[in-house]
Amino acid sequence: MLITPRRDKLNRIVIVNPKGGCGKSTLATNLAAAYARQGPTPAIMDYDPQGSTMGWLTRRPANLPPIHGIAAYKKSMQATRSWQLRVPNETVNLLVDSPASIDHDDLRQLTRDSTSILVPVLPSSMDIHAAARCIADLLLVAKIDRRDRKLAVVANRTRKNTKSFAKLMRFLDSLGIPIIAVLRDSQNYVHSAEQGVGVCEMQPSRVKQDVEQIEKIVAWLDAWPERRRESTSVASISRQPKVSGPLLRRPSFGST
Ligand SMILES: Nc1ncnc2c1ncn2[C@@H]1O[C@H](COP(=O)(O)OP(=O)(O)OP(=O)(O)O)[C@@H](O)[C@H]1O
Ligand SMILES: [Mg+2]
Repeated sequence: MLITPRRDKLNRIVIVNPKGGCGKSTLATNLAAAYARQGPTPAIMDYDPQGSTMGWLTRRPANLPPIHGIAAYKKSMQATRSWQLRVPNETVNLLVDSPASIDHDDLRQLTRDSTSILVPVLPSSMDIHAAARCIADLLLVAKIDRRDRKLAVVANRTRKNTKSFAKLMRFLDSLGIPIIAVLRDSQNYVHSAEQGVGVCEMQPSRVKQDVEQIEKIVAWLDAWPERRRESTSVASISRQPKVSGPLLRRPSFGST
């Protein structure tokens, strides 16, 4: 796995969680559609051999704003890997969709040079445990420093007032990782996936709540230069010792 060279103005948004079906591709496609509407043309890089986001792109109606697709899961002998993964110069927002079950090496490579990392999490106890492991790996294996404020969680298919949601909130609070949006369980996401569109491109009266949450995520993502500046200035004052409590090595929520 090789990621394209660093570019200073590029928001490289990596969507990751080795748990299958948690909403990585749903998030990638909906954010790509939102960025396509506001312009300039975003890019979506699909590392999943299932090719879900590339499939979504092929279903995208021709009259909608374009999205540049990069099938990173395909390996060609005819071109160098960096050529295959090249991102157009005008791209400002790159969405990277990752596969389920990635190993530590891939996690490190995938998140290297990322400016924003989103972890979608489903509300079940098993999914929350998997997300806790994923976050522990991001912090301890991929060496993402949470004080860089590039890491955030999106709760997916979630009802806010559940026990498991409260546990997820407590765990993330203890790490200082924000939940930046809560996506409801809605057929709008299923239909948008089938039609090659984002919820922001569907009939507004049907998708108002969904679009509000996608816009919240976009607002957080767009603030990446400020987040980076703030974390750099905090770092220059004083860097605290790295967090490595037992919670990170062995995430645990107790029973649900
Ligand atoms: N908020 C939601 N409401 C309803 N259905 C959803 C929602 N989010 C995702 N889904 C549906 O759940 C299924 C899994 O979502 P998705 O493909 O985005 O997960 P994934 O993490 O990319 O899966 P994989 O690990 O296999 O790549 C899809 O059918 C998708 O349409
Ligand atoms: Mg997927």
